[in-house]
Amino acid sequence: MSIAESIQHIMEQSSWIRKMFEEGIELKKIHGEKNVFDFSLGNPLLEPPKKFTDNLAKLTTSNIKGLHRYMPNPGFPSSRTEIAKHLSKESGLSISMDEIIMTTGAAGGLNGILKSLLNPDDEVIVFAPFFVEYLFYISNHKGKGIIADTNEKFIPIISDLEKKITNKTKAIIINSPNNPTGVMYPESTISRIGTLIKKMEKKYNSEIYLISDEPYRKLIYSNEKYPFIFKHHSRSVIVTSHSKDLGLAGERIGYISLSPLDKDRTILFDAIIFSLRTLGHVNATALMQKAVESVQNEVVDIKIYKEKRDFLYDNLTKLGYECVKPDGAFYLFPKTPIADDTKFVSILQQYNILTVPGKGFGKGGYFRISYSVEDWVIEGSIKGFKEAYNTVK
Ligand SMILES: Cc1ncc(COP(=O)(O)O)c(C=O)c1O
Repeated sequence: MSIAESIQHIMEQSSWIRKMFEEGIELKKIHGEKNVFDFSLGNPLLEPPKKFTDNLAKLTTSNIKGLHRYMPNPGFPSSRTEIAKHLSKESGLSISMDEIIMTTGAAGGLNGILKSLLNPDDEVIVFAPFFVEYLFYISNHKGKGIIADTNEKFIPIISDLEKKITNKTKAIIINSPNNPTGVMYPESTISRIGTLIKKMEKKYNSEIYLISDEPYRKLIYSNEKYPFIFKHHSRSVIVTSHSKDLGLAGERIGYISLSPLDKDRTILFDAIIFSLRTLGHVNATALMQKAVESVQNEVVDIKIYKEKRDFLYDNLTKLGYECVKPDGAFYLFPKTPIADDTKFVSILQQYNILTVPGKGFGKGGYFRISYSVEDWVIEGSIKGFKEAYNTVK
């Protein structure tokens, strides 16, 4: 079949997560649903808050005229105003609706931003381990993904980032709390990234955007304040969604916020709207924009995710697994007890445990566990995790 070679190539190489998901279906057929412990997908387990579903029910029976029509491309002014208000309160900066664009999830937003920024062969830096789709989004818009390293706590190594920035660097993507590690970057790291970007912009007489992908911003298990990027670099953009914090992954609703401190934000705003339109997004779904408008203060019951994190982290480390304790999101990224992560993941599979090798996220020697699953999956898996560990140690 005459599928584009680039797509064929990517499909052959790409998705470990999809591979594990498909193998899981087979294992479930053989052993029965309740005997397979599937940690492969990052699908939110928790249902949306009641306020959201009540609001949605009201909207579907309302007679608001024009609710289902086209609206201005960046989204309903009322939704953007509510989000701007909420984000201003969260970040301590004054953000207006003219800096907010509603999007089809974070994925849609990231593509709109990259399409707006990249010339062919421009470089975009991501930190390993990373959300693997980044590389595809970058290549969608003819850019080149460059991988920078993180330390043993999965925090960016600034000296390595410095080496990776060239005169072709157009953007740096950060993701905190992180998929796949769950680690949240401290404010000092964001500040050092901002300082380095300014130094390198001067060196190369260039402009570099800092893009912060934040779908897990509200899934944080400590009282630590979330460090916003805007004050650390003026050319910066936040992209996020309600896929995880409101449990709406299937509804494809999110937003972009441009930095109120970026003097060129109006040009970028128009470019992103145009890009999203020509990518076929046109606007984020109307009903969802309205449905999330009045629930910006709501979040799924993160206590439940925290309990799962604690149970799994405590048990795995007791068994001997080495793991950085995640600050947020719903992933654990332990070291594999043998260097070959693909091999260890296949050993876990023999105990009906499905995880994803670190290689799939650009960092071999680790594996990802998505603990956004029912308690019986977590509890039932511990025996297999123990036996798999003991077979290689
Ligand atoms: C780090 C990261 N960015 C972006 C996305 C895409 O999110 P959305 O469903 O909002 O498009 C995900 C989804 O898992 C993610 O983990």
